[in-house]
Amino acid sequence: MHAFARHLHRPSRKGSAQETKGLILNWGWRYDLGEWFCDTFLFGGKLRELRRKTANLARLHPGETVLDVGCGTGTLAIEVQKRVGTTGCVIGIDPGQEQIARAHTKAARRHVPIDFQMGVIEHLAFPDQTFDVVFSTLMMHHLPAPLKRQGLSEIARVLKPGGRLVIADFTHKADRAGRAARFRAGGSSMQDLAALLKEAGFDHLEREEMPPARFSAFPGVSFVCASKSAEEGSK
Ligand SMILES: C[S@@+](CC[C@H](N)C(=O)[O-])C[C@H]1O[C@@H](n2cnc3c(N)ncnc32)[C@H](O)[C@@H]1O
Repeated sequence: MHAFARHLHRPSRKGSAQETKGLILNWGWRYDLGEWFCDTFLFGGKLRELRRKTANLARLHPGETVLDVGCGTGTLAIEVQKRVGTTGCVIGIDPGQEQIARAHTKAARRHVPIDFQMGVIEHLAFPDQTFDVVFSTLMMHHLPAPLKRQGLSEIARVLKPGGRLVIADFTHKADRAGRAARFRAGGSSMQDLAALLKEAGFDHLEREEMPPARFSAFPGVSFVCASKSAEEGSK
């Protein structure tokens, strides 16, 4: 574990990492295999593009401290670590034990010092104002609405004033009726998220889209990049 990460981490005060109403994935290497298959044969490489775009949107600088919430098997965190360098610090959390185990294996194979831990968005086990940047990719649709609100307020707490949050998620659930129904938490509406972000103390919302691709099954992804208000007294 990166020395800074060890310093930052504190044990969760509020129950075990597994206690969540979110939809946990615990597939480990099977997640990566499934993702590779979908991206190669169904999505035309759009998932790879999505990760690059997500990392670009944060405008990372060497030395920054970054949290990836719902990091899955750590693919984005590994990309992000290259950008913040050895002076930076990247932590990924996910409630799926197999996801975290797989993320550890991938990071170790690449000799990158990323701290992957089991954890949930609703109780982030870090002190206030710890991170410059927080990411959440393709995980908001795993959360029921009240958990989204709670999770965003936790993210606001652990971000430094002026810190950035980048969210990427499948486009509005109405645009993918049927597929969304398979997730018990339902899809995400970026419209709803924008309102929740304002409520949680974020401003300067930027939105971008990767529309559904014409000759692939890629369902379309929306991005939001928001800054935590730097004003005194904000959350
Ligand atoms: C579709 S995966 C996306 C993983 C990764 N961000 C990516 O882009 O590949 C969604 C992840 O959210 C995690 N998740 C579910 N509930 C969560 C919660 N309450 N807090 C944090 N992560 C959660 C799941 O275990 C799963 O690994």
